Amino acid sequence: MARLRTVHRCTECGASAPQWTGRCPGCAGWNTLVEEVHEAAPRRVPAGDGGERPVRVADVEMADWRTRPTGIGELDRVLGGGLVPGSATLVGGEPGIGKSTLLLQAASAMAAAGARCLLVSAEESKEQVRLRAERLGALGSGLWLVAHTSLAGVQGAVDEVRPDVLIVDSIQTVFDPEIASAPGSVVQVRECASRLVGLAKQRGLATVLVGHVTKDGALAGPRVLEHVVDTVLSFEGERHHALRMLRASKHRFGPTGELGLFEMAGTGLVDVPDPGALFLGDRRAGVAGSVVVPAMEGQRPLLVEVQALVTASDLPMPRRSAQGLDAGRVNLVIAVLAERARLSLGRSDLYASTVGGVRVTEPAADLAVALALASASTGRPLPPDLVACGEVGLAGELRQVGHTGRRLAEAARLGFGRAVVAASAPEAPAGLEVTRLSSLSEALSHLGMTGPPRQSH
Ligand code: TYD
Ligand code: MG
Repeated sequence: MARLRTVHRCTECGASAPQWTGRCPGCAGWNTLVEEVHEAAPRRVPAGDGGERPVRVADVEMADWRTRPTGIGELDRVLGGGLVPGSATLVGGEPGIGKSTLLLQAASAMAAAGARCLLVSAEESKEQVRLRAERLGALGSGLWLVAHTSLAGVQGAVDEVRPDVLIVDSIQTVFDPEIASAPGSVVQVRECASRLVGLAKQRGLATVLVGHVTKDGALAGPRVLEHVVDTVLSFEGERHHALRMLRASKHRFGPTGELGLFEMAGTGLVDVPDPGALFLGDRRAGVAGSVVVPAMEGQRPLLVEVQALVTASDLPMPRRSAQGLDAGRVNLVIAVLAERARLSLGRSDLYASTVGGVRVTEPAADLAVALALASASTGRPLPPDLVACGEVGLAGELRQVGHTGRRLAEAARLGFGRAVVAASAPEAPAGLEVTRLSSLSEALSHLGMTGPPRQSH
């Protein structure tokens, strides 16, 4: 009889420890270790060959690797064309963000294009899925549905339907009764995922697994889940905004920088193919503390408003809040303003944020953050048709950022008339008056942001 062996495994990072401790030895998370029972059967390396012979790279058969467009423009943009047969894609996101909706829409579009799609609903009943499908107009005949939670059930359904595309919603609720751990545990999730990935490779199935994320945004379950799949997509958005963003954090078949944008509407997710001015809709002109940065998300320029508020603080440690921005870079900009541009904000509460739930963490936003803070503290508004982009260095110098030409072209297209950029920035597009500056203090004096603050702000 096989002996049983227990280990304690971290639900966050997958590290194991022989004994329970309060803190994970891998990721230092508290209370994340759970007990796992294994059969300690001796394993042997199989003798002989596994049927696989080495071949020359150039001789590898390529016919199976053509991507299959999902029919959802923004999803295809992030995937670099579509789903690859035989590959596994993990789609992570918080509950309610729209993962099931997105995949049902994609399955329906692929079915309409002639693919056989099998949707395994391991969370919702068939009736619930049908209700959603009615709302989304996803009742085409190529779309198959099974509500199963056991791995054997999923395999059985694949044998019966012989689909081209398999969607499992979600991987955390699928389990194998032969594994001693509880459904949803690290071992179960890891084992089920790697069996499904094996099935995908063996049958040439384009497989999509839905994964839940924990409250801090990491994929629930072991990190190894990210290693077994070919592509990891994360679906994000603020609960209070209709905007949803899809990003690839790992992609074996293409670049990872692309951003897909959707809006959640009454009839499902709608592509946002031209997001240029999406985040500027409700902007008020002439308010101090606001400026627009032409940011880049993947290959697309996005114009985003950066706002700042500076108020007198009565706290011993004044508050500093950075929303949608990199807090470390905002602190750096505050320090450079004080040391290199004689604008000390040390005794004020400072708030800096982007508008519309979008995150801009690239250094290109430094100049806009600095100008917004300076404008808020002096109470003098910046010109409403101004965009600012550039990285701020510790010496107070302005540095050029990548794709400046593309950023400025988009600003010009959307009707902005002026731009401040670093001295070495390339030629500007027609219709945009560009001021090239070499330091932050030059930028402040050029825009009239120096001198004593106004009395009320
Ligand atoms: P869902 O796809 O179930 O999210 P997830 O699978 O990530 O948990 O989407 C849930 C939310 O989307 C829900 O709050 C309702 C909203 N929704 C719409 O606004 N319009 C729609 O057409 C659909 C189907 C959902
Ligand atoms: Mg769901």
